[in-house]
Amino acid sequence: MFADALDLFSQIEEPEREELRHLRKELEEANYKYYVLNMPTLSDREFDEKMHRLQDLEALYPDMFDPKSPTQHVGSDLGKKGFEQVKHKYPMLSLANSYSREEIEEWVRKLPSGVEIVCELKYDGLSISLWYEHGVLVKALTRGDGQQGDNVIDNIKTIPSIPWKIERTDIPEFFELRGEVLLPWANFERLNKEREEQEEPLFANPRNAASGTLKLQDPREVARRGLDAYLYYMLGENLPGSTHFERLDTARQWGFHISDAIKVCHSVDEVMAYISYWDTERKNLPVATDGIVLKVNNLAQQEELGYTAKTPRWAIAYKFPAEKQLTLLKEITYQVGRTGVVTPVANLEPVQLSGTMVQRATLHNEDFIKSLDIRPGDKVWVEKGGEIIPKITGRADRTDEGVSGLVVSGFPTTCPECGADLVRVEGEAAWRCPNEAGCPPQIKGKIEHFVSRKAMDIEGLGEETIDLFYQKGLLHNIADIYDLRLEDIAAQERLGEKSAQNILDGIEASKQVPWARVLFALGIRMVGETTAKKIARRYNTIDALQWATVEQLCAIEDVGPQIAENIVKYFEDIRNLEILDRLRKAGLQMEGEAAPEPTSDKLAGLSIVISGTFSHHSRDEYKAMIEANGGKNVGSVSKKTSFILAGESMGPEKRKKAEDLGIKMISEDEFLEML
Ligand code: IVH
Repeated sequence: MFADALDLFSQIEEPEREELRHLRKELEEANYKYYVLNMPTLSDREFDEKMHRLQDLEALYPDMFDPKSPTQHVGSDLGKKGFEQVKHKYPMLSLANSYSREEIEEWVRKLPSGVEIVCELKYDGLSISLWYEHGVLVKALTRGDGQQGDNVIDNIKTIPSIPWKIERTDIPEFFELRGEVLLPWANFERLNKEREEQEEPLFANPRNAASGTLKLQDPREVARRGLDAYLYYMLGENLPGSTHFERLDTARQWGFHISDAIKVCHSVDEVMAYISYWDTERKNLPVATDGIVLKVNNLAQQEELGYTAKTPRWAIAYKFPAEKQLTLLKEITYQVGRTGVVTPVANLEPVQLSGTMVQRATLHNEDFIKSLDIRPGDKVWVEKGGEIIPKITGRADRTDEGVSGLVVSGFPTTCPECGADLVRVEGEAAWRCPNEAGCPPQIKGKIEHFVSRKAMDIEGLGEETIDLFYQKGLLHNIADIYDLRLEDIAAQERLGEKSAQNILDGIEASKQVPWARVLFALGIRMVGETTAKKIARRYNTIDALQWATVEQLCAIEDVGPQIAENIVKYFEDIRNLEILDRLRKAGLQMEGEAAPEPTSDKLAGLSIVISGTFSHHSRDEYKAMIEANGGKNVGSVSKKTSFILAGESMGPEKRKKAEDLGIKMISEDEFLEML
C-alpha cells in the first residue's frame, strides 16, 4: 500500500522534475541567444512565462535547488572578445516584468500607503554603467552577467550626450550613472539600408543593432552609426538628495541626458493615466521603448523594500503589449531579390498592425517554414515590433487538421521568375537563383543598384522607369544605360522630352563619378561601399584589379577569401568583361588616385594587430605609420599575425589568444624605436 503510494508520487513527480530540467536548459539557451548572439528566439512574454513556471517548479522541488539556474542570475552578454572585463561595484540587476494593468495595480497596492511612485519610460536598448571618478568618465560597463561586464568606454565616448568630464566642484568623488544605450530609429533605418546595399545581414530591431554596435572594435564605425543614451539611475556613496527623482534632476543639472518623460505619481490612477498616455505617444519618440518602469521614489523606502536575487522589490516594469495579430495565411509566394536570394513571402488576410494595414510578411527561409510547419490555410501570428518588415512569428494550433484543406507546399526547386534551377550554398539558409544575367529581378536590381545614390547617382532613373525600360527592351544591363538616346526615352509614356533630357544629363554627370564608387556600382557580391573604397585605394586601375589573385586581394583590410573569390569570379565571366569594355568606352572613371606609396619597407610583409590604448599617438596614427612602412594593419589575432602593438589595458581575450599562439607583443616605445 505504502509502496503503491510512493509509486504514484513518483509518477507525478518525475515528469515535473523533467520539465524543470528542460526549462532550465531552454531558458539558459534563450539567454545565450538573446545576450550573446543578439538573435532572440523567444518573445519576452514567452520567456517570462517559462521563467515563472520554472520558479513554481523550483518551489515545489527545493531539493533541486541550483545556484546556476536561470532563476538565480540574469542573462549574460559576456563572451565577446577584446574588452576588459570589470566587476560591477553594485550588481546590475534586471526588473520584474508585468504584462497587465492588474498586476501593476496589485504591485502598487502592496506598497506602504502614501508612497510616491516615479514613472519612467522603459527604453529598449541595452544597459550601461558609467563610472565617474573626480568628474572624469573612467569606465563604461555593459551588464555582462550582472556581476561583471565589458568595458566599452571607447565606444561609449562616441555618444555626444555622454560627458567625458564634469567640470564642477559640488560632485562626489565617485558616482555611477546607469542608463540605456540606444540606436535611434532614423539611424537604425539608415544603417539597415546601407547593410542591405552591401549585402550584409540586417539587424532585426534597434536593440540588436545597438548591441552589435557597442561590441564593435572600431570606435570610428560606432561613431558613424550614431548611438544615443538615456540615463535613469544614480548610485554611489554620499550622493545628494533623498529621492530617486531628485537624484535624476541633479544628474540633469550636471549635464547628463535624462528623459523629460519622468513623473512622480501619487495614486494608481495617476500611474494608469501615465501608461495610457505613453502607450500611444511613444510612437512619436525618436527611440524604441517597450514599456514603463515604476520606481519607489523615496530612497529610504527603496532600501527597506530591498531586493530578490535578481530584481529590486522597489521597482517593476510594465511591458506594452507586442503589436501582433493572428490572421489567415492565404498563400506563400516567392520573391527573388537583386542577388538572386529567394525569400518566401506570406500573403495574408489583411490586418491592422501599428496603424498600418499588413498583407504581406516575410517567412525568412525554408528552414523557418519547416521548423514551424507553416502551410497555407493556417492561422499565423504576424508581428511588426521594432522591425521594418512585418514577419511571421508563429502559427496557431490546427483544430481540425486534415479537414481544413491545408496544402503542403514545398520550397520551389526552380526560380519563380526565370525557371533556372535554384542552388543552396552549404552553410547558408537561403536558396538562390544562379541565373544572374538572365533573371529579370536580378537584372533590374543590378541596374537599380548601379544608378543608386551612393553608386553612380543617376537621377531620374527610378525603379519604375528601369522596369519600363526593361519591358521595352531598352535596358538589359548596366552598360545599356550609356546607349540610351533622347528619342527612345521621350517616346515612352509618361516621359516627355524634358524628363528625358534630365535622365541623359544624369547619365552624363555619372561619367565623373570616381573609380571607387564605380567599383561599388558594379554590384560584385559582398563588395560594399567601404570595401570598394579600400580595394580602389590598393588597385587604382580596373586593369590592375582584373589580374589580382585571391591571395593578393586578401591582403587588403576587410577583404576575406569569400569577397576575394567573388571579385576573381566576376572578372572571369566574359559577359562582365564585355560590359566593362562598353563602360570604359562610354567614358566612366576606371582609374583613381593611388594610395600613397610606402615611405619605407621596414614592416613589409608583416600583419600587425593594434590593441589597447596608447599615450604617444592615437590608434589611427599608428595605423597610418604601419601602412606608410609597408605593413598591414589587421583587426584580429590569428596565427598569421606577425606581432601585436600592445598598449595599455589590452583586452584579456586578445592577450590570451596571443599567448596561446605564441605571438610577440611589442610595446608602444619598442615599436617607435623599431621605426
Ligand atoms: S531601472 C535596478 N529604468 O530594462 C533597476 N531600467 O528589463 C535598474 N531599462 O536592465 C533598472 N529603461 O536595461 C530602469 N527607465 C528605466 C529603464 C530601464 C530601460 C532597462 C534596463 C534594465 C532592463 C530590465
